[in-house]
Amino acid sequence: MRYQALSKELYIKNRSKFASLLPPKSIAIFTSNDIMPTSADGSMPFKQASDIFYLSGVDQEETILVVFPDSLHEKHREILFVRETNAEIAIWEGSKLTKESALEVSGIRTVYWTDQFEKIFHALISEAQLVFLNSNEHTRASSEVETREMRLSKWMRKKYPHYRYERSAPIMHRIRSVKEAEEIEQMQRACDITKSGLERVLKFIKPGVMEYEIEAEFAHEFLRQGSRGFAYTPIIASGFNACVLHYIENEAQCQAGDVLLMDVGAEYGNYASDMTRCVPVSGRFTSRQKDVYNGVLSVMKGAMGLLKPGVFMHEYHAQVGELMTRELLNLGLIDQHDVAKQNPDWPAYKKYFMHGTSHFLGIDVHDVGLWNEPIQAGHVFTVEPGIYIREENLGIRLENDIVIQENGFRDLMGHIPLEAEEIEDLMNG
Ligand code: GLY
Ligand code: MN
Ligand code: MN
Repeated sequence: MRYQALSKELYIKNRSKFASLLPPKSIAIFTSNDIMPTSADGSMPFKQASDIFYLSGVDQEETILVVFPDSLHEKHREILFVRETNAEIAIWEGSKLTKESALEVSGIRTVYWTDQFEKIFHALISEAQLVFLNSNEHTRASSEVETREMRLSKWMRKKYPHYRYERSAPIMHRIRSVKEAEEIEQMQRACDITKSGLERVLKFIKPGVMEYEIEAEFAHEFLRQGSRGFAYTPIIASGFNACVLHYIENEAQCQAGDVLLMDVGAEYGNYASDMTRCVPVSGRFTSRQKDVYNGVLSVMKGAMGLLKPGVFMHEYHAQVGELMTRELLNLGLIDQHDVAKQNPDWPAYKKYFMHGTSHFLGIDVHDVGLWNEPIQAGHVFTVEPGIYIREENLGIRLENDIVIQENGFRDLMGHIPLEAEEIEDLMNG
């Protein structure tokens, strides 16, 4: 394993949280992601489905998890199905989980081979009254592809049409959003690796380098530290490109005098980090660039103090909007008249700051969470205000990852250079 895995005690605890929110006589099923094909005999690297990983720690394809807390037979209260391994598979693909190592990873005592799933499930289902199926209910999920999860759900509804089906996703969103200490340490590790990547590129950036060369420096640093790479497609955007919010081509040459925006995070052990830093290609910000930078930094610091237990996300976002309005007025980008006549659904600040300030972070970069309930201790959020001035070829976004605590917050990126002068010193040091 390339990363230090979390303990089976964590996964035992995660399953007990899930089981405690199930109604009586419920059986729940989770499955791995498919290995996605490309062309010819190619495939994408395997990426585990977040929910089965969260509930079992198993990072392997063709895995199924059954949670059935009220089963008469204790050995059927949790069942893991893993892909059968044998000597032939080991020659080609190396070690896969055995029944013993699957227990070690997950804490699940009853482990069968995946090809026994249908037979064993058939014997269990008549004991249940409700069947909980999982699906991707992320509000921004979009996919043309039918997932393994969806195929399993369709198969089940067709084969067992007279059962009552329920959704696991709302339970998963609730429990995954509040992180355990072990998970936070894994995220801290991801942030630490991201920090090393930034330190490496600060010494590398100069006029004339290509954005993709900077991307490569990050990749090098991430991989050599046991990360499997970027937690999401990185944005390395110089000059005007920084104003294209989803710019991922990373194909331009960095020009003297431009600011370079880097939205980059390492994954570690399937947990994400998500950082944005902006640096002057020539090593020194102009005074205008620094003013805009400090405007964004001030909103970021203010926003961090507003994310507190009990606050609703929509209230928080409205308050950050007010902080941003003040900075844009100071920078002369909007005026009092713009604010006075603004449309409440699209306030004046949105002209220069058009995305949200924070999202949940965890196993997924845009992690699941309950957006309509108050913030709780243990939630992890990004804080990422930005000002994008197309007419000045300037886009500044700053992004850190913080853990909400009962009193205050812990900044997982508090050790990563952030002040403009600190960045300049490191580039020129
Ligand atoms: N890198 C994706 C985001 O900042 O949300
Ligand atoms: Mn980001
Ligand atoms: Mn983000």
